[in-house]
Amino acid sequence: MSREREMAMEFLGLNFMQSAQVDMESLSRSFIDEMEKGLKGELSSLFMLPTYIEAKSAIPSNRPVIALDAGGTNFRVALVVFDDEKKPLIKGFRKFPMPGVKGEVGLEEFFACIATAIGDLIPESDDIGFCFSYPTEIMENGDGRLLRFSKEINAKEVEGQMIGENLNKALLARGMNKPKNIVIVNDTVTTLLAGMSAFADRNFDSYIGFILGTGTNCCYSEKNSLITKIKGVRAQGEQVINIESGGFGRSPRGLIDREFDETTLNPGFYTFEKMISGAYLGGLFTLTLKSASRAGLFSAGTAASIDSASPFTTSDMGAFLADKEKAGSVHNLMAKEGELAIAFCIAEEIVDRAARLSAVNLASIAIKTGKGFDPLRPVLTAADGTTFYELPGLRQKTLRYIDSFLRVSHGQYMEFARVDNASLIGAAIAGLR
Ligand code: BGC
Repeated sequence: MSREREMAMEFLGLNFMQSAQVDMESLSRSFIDEMEKGLKGELSSLFMLPTYIEAKSAIPSNRPVIALDAGGTNFRVALVVFDDEKKPLIKGFRKFPMPGVKGEVGLEEFFACIATAIGDLIPESDDIGFCFSYPTEIMENGDGRLLRFSKEINAKEVEGQMIGENLNKALLARGMNKPKNIVIVNDTVTTLLAGMSAFADRNFDSYIGFILGTGTNCCYSEKNSLITKIKGVRAQGEQVINIESGGFGRSPRGLIDREFDETTLNPGFYTFEKMISGAYLGGLFTLTLKSASRAGLFSAGTAASIDSASPFTTSDMGAFLADKEKAGSVHNLMAKEGELAIAFCIAEEIVDRAARLSAVNLASIAIKTGKGFDPLRPVLTAADGTTFYELPGLRQKTLRYIDSFLRVSHGQYMEFARVDNASLIGAAIAGLR
């Protein structure tokens, strides 16, 4: 091992920030335990939100539906129609910044922004499928109550409010004559639905919808008989459960994770997500460099530059990992030879740990549901999110951990797939139900 890597790993180890300090087997047991408690309505860090949506692939043809997608950074709108072959046609696509991402917005302003964004598509369909990527309790009529914003969205007044009902109010105030049928659905659910429809000709044992972008989360199909916290659903059937896995609270956290958490909008909330997703990894990396320079890993000149630097984004971190030698925001801070290699090992280890935690998250679902033992009928994980696909090494490492942990240790098979425009297509499928 190089001296630089040795220094980085020793420092991370002393701060309990090394990837290998996370024991996958015992973490998976805790994850499954939290899943079970959440399904029973017992105290759990996993919301385990029922969706009342069955993972079925039937889609009506030639019925236009307005599809909305409120993600962590962007708000997208389109009109979607499925042709006779069930191929989606996307028209009138437009993209805006997500309200609340650049400073606080109030309730009315939040929904007025969304209504304005839909604009001329309002008369095109009576149905709206709304991919709303925040912890939201779904009602049997398809509307949803936002529990709380994650991903640093600043719109406190919207928390606790019904999303569809408030959107209809804003649309009526803009001259629309009757309320729309609005179905609220999480982005993991849209990804699962879009994944099922894209691979309808393949035989999978079950499906997972997985997002690793600004935030992280996954959903899966669960037996109604095990969701004992809701009454009155058909005991024989299954429905998709939105785990809200970013909220998992039993992962071991390092000293720097704890310090970083204190700098976020909601300390103590979604601590798992803060170790994994794009809204946070750049900030966590910056703080880890600062802490490493306090511990004496960098020269005085470099330490001073690190201290006064503004936080790196996850994409700065990605650019550094992709092309370590080129001038860039991280590279520019390092004054002495060898320092770049220390910073690189730190960044790489943060990515490795995010991959390990994501693999535990996904594998735990397969282990809990007992799916994918037949190598010919694996579990399909439909995966979406820029961080997963663009942060160098993250996807490859996640797949490697899934292979060693799920296939080698547990004998279960999982395949990954990417579906283009999964949020809009899945929102449209949900809106047509
Ligand atoms: C939200 C989830 C969402 C995930 C991925 C999290 O912050 O709470 O609802 O699925 O991000 O977008």
